[in-house]
Amino acid sequence: MARKYHTRLVNAKGMVDKAHQNKYAVGHFNINNLEWTKALLEVAQATNTPIILGVSEGANKYMGGFKFVEAMVTNLLDSLNITVPVALHLDHGQSVESCKAAIDAGFSSVMYDGSHHPFEENYKNTQEVIAYANAHEVSVEAEIGTIGGEEDGVIGAGEIGDPAEAKKMVDLGVSFLAAGIGNIHGPYPKGWKGLNFEALEKIQAASQIGMVLHGGSGIPQDQVIKAISLGISKVNVNTELQIAFAAATRKYIEEGKDKPENGKGFDPRKLLHPGYEAIKETFSELTGWFGCKGKA
Ligand code: 13P
Repeated sequence: MARKYHTRLVNAKGMVDKAHQNKYAVGHFNINNLEWTKALLEVAQATNTPIILGVSEGANKYMGGFKFVEAMVTNLLDSLNITVPVALHLDHGQSVESCKAAIDAGFSSVMYDGSHHPFEENYKNTQEVIAYANAHEVSVEAEIGTIGGEEDGVIGAGEIGDPAEAKKMVDLGVSFLAAGIGNIHGPYPKGWKGLNFEALEKIQAASQIGMVLHGGSGIPQDQVIKAISLGISKVNVNTELQIAFAAATRKYIEEGKDKPENGKGFDPRKLLHPGYEAIKETFSELTGWFGCKGKA
């Protein structure tokens, strides 16, 4: 059997259960590179906040694979002396094999996203992931319904989750559950109808466990807070950090700070610094909304 995850990482179930009991949500922030990871770990530590670092399959491939990502994160935990709870989570694992590979590399949490399969297949594959994850004390997120998002240039609204399917997933032993409730990955389009609170209430009543709000970027604060009061205990954010990083980098370049005639501002350690600071600011603001700030 493969090794269990690094002792400085934690399984995300404890964090999410605690948030669910106390009606706040833990932030899941996607990482894309070293700057992202370092900024998030440092700001989580500085604000005494638990954090889930999400890694999509695309970002994993970009960064060099599960083993590299696990090594980067766990080495930073050591060298930065991070003591707040940190979970390393595979975001939207598309296959059982992908979840197993992340677990083998030492991830402490995985999402199996079988939402594009018929429910029976989603259920069966989730069951297989749970069996493997349990043997490694790794938490498992599953998804019912679908989260909206862009596909071939068209922004789909997603499919609302079915409470009966939520109950089946809970009985299977999932740690926390993502459901389509009108949420969309990426920027929200004009005319978006907002979150479907009625659906959220029904799914929460059926599941009674911490639920996950995907597409956490760009949802108005009052809707985020209401969703948390109705059972959302983990909020996933990716796009908002990307936009903040890009805007800060753009400002630096537009001010000409990277031009050789203006000094050494072209050094990547300087060029990427404003984006790194912007990630910290965005984390600080959003964790204030989620109620997890200072809850380590
Ligand atoms: P956003 O990119 O819309 O914040 O969504 C992130 C997400 O849900 C990752 O699973």
